[in-house]
Amino acid sequence: MTHFLVTGVSGLLGLNFALAVDGKKHQVTGVANTLPMAWASFKNVQAELTQAGVIERLIEEHKPDVILHCAAIANVDLCESEPERAKFVNADLPGTIAKACLRHSIKMIQISTDAVFDGVKGDYQEDDPTNPLSVYAQTKRDGENAVLSANPDALVARVNFYGWSATGNRSLAEVFFNNLQAGNQMNGFTDVTFCPMNILDLSDLLVEATDLQLKGIFHMVGAEPMSKYQFGVRIAEKFGFDTALIKPVSVRDGNLKAARSPNLSLSTAKLQKALGHDLPAFDAGLQKFYDQFRRGYPQYIKTLI
Ligand SMILES: NC(=O)c1ccc[n+]([C@@H]2O[C@H](COP(=O)([O-])OP(=O)(O)OC[C@H]3O[C@@H](n4cnc5c(N)ncnc54)[C@H](OP(=O)(O)O)[C@@H]3O)[C@@H](O)[C@H]2O)c1
Repeated sequence: MTHFLVTGVSGLLGLNFALAVDGKKHQVTGVANTLPMAWASFKNVQAELTQAGVIERLIEEHKPDVILHCAAIANVDLCESEPERAKFVNADLPGTIAKACLRHSIKMIQISTDAVFDGVKGDYQEDDPTNPLSVYAQTKRDGENAVLSANPDALVARVNFYGWSATGNRSLAEVFFNNLQAGNQMNGFTDVTFCPMNILDLSDLLVEATDLQLKGIFHMVGAEPMSKYQFGVRIAEKFGFDTALIKPVSVRDGNLKAARSPNLSLSTAKLQKALGHDLPAFDAGLQKFYDQFRRGYPQYIKTLI
């Protein structure tokens, strides 16, 4: 049994990981901040992680085997407006946690992002040079460096995932779902490519990587690169919505505050070699997202916060 201390447990990844993993082979203690849990089947506490001494106190009180650090300012455009706060939370805090983990002989898993790359080349390997285009991406890349220079045994997972969230709007898949269900027209970027992974598949991979004691940087993204427009169409088809509601447009028409990398297809060859198996197919992941909907999971998860 591995005891995970999961930061950002009120967020999209933290909460889904905790629900998927706690009480099976492993145990989770979750840490939320401004959105404390209303109730949950797993143990959880509230803490502002940037306050002095908080990380040490959490480690001493809960004695985890692993800190899965999901907490971040993950809103790309918010980071552009508040660069100093973004640096403090996304770059400095991971370094502090990595040092504390080293002192206490605890494994650290830092959740990073595909957006550390500029998206010019595509099919990125783990050791390709990074070139972040936005404040968010820059602070996440600095967070990777802070973690690995403080604690070379840490695992840095560069991810891109989708799933159902407690607030109902944290993932792109939910944004497509909400609008398509309401019959709203939506834009889908045809010139932004990514590799979305179902959050349940990512949770399984993070546990497997922990069991295998992987360290260093790994790409943990979906097996199939696609544009954001194609992603929306696949969701519409799965749920039986009208695909014509999604208008194929360029990201240049999106009026986004922060720059987006055009081609974030990432190679997962290093991960597959370490695991000794292929990654789950996109369609299988989308089926899990759909099955959760059929079982009322989106309503259930909203009751937790
Ligand atoms: N969503 C994606 O597809 C995607 C893609 C690439 C990488 N990532 C990375 O994946 C990780 C998880 O993202 P997500 O989508 O799950 O994010 P999210 O839904 O926005 O959740 C962020 C979490 O961080 C917590 N948090 C932020 N600042 C904190 C602080 N100072 N102290 C304590 N907790 C704090 C929030 O707590 P409260 O809400 O309780 O305040 C929340 O639980 C992030 O590292 C993100 O950069 C996400």
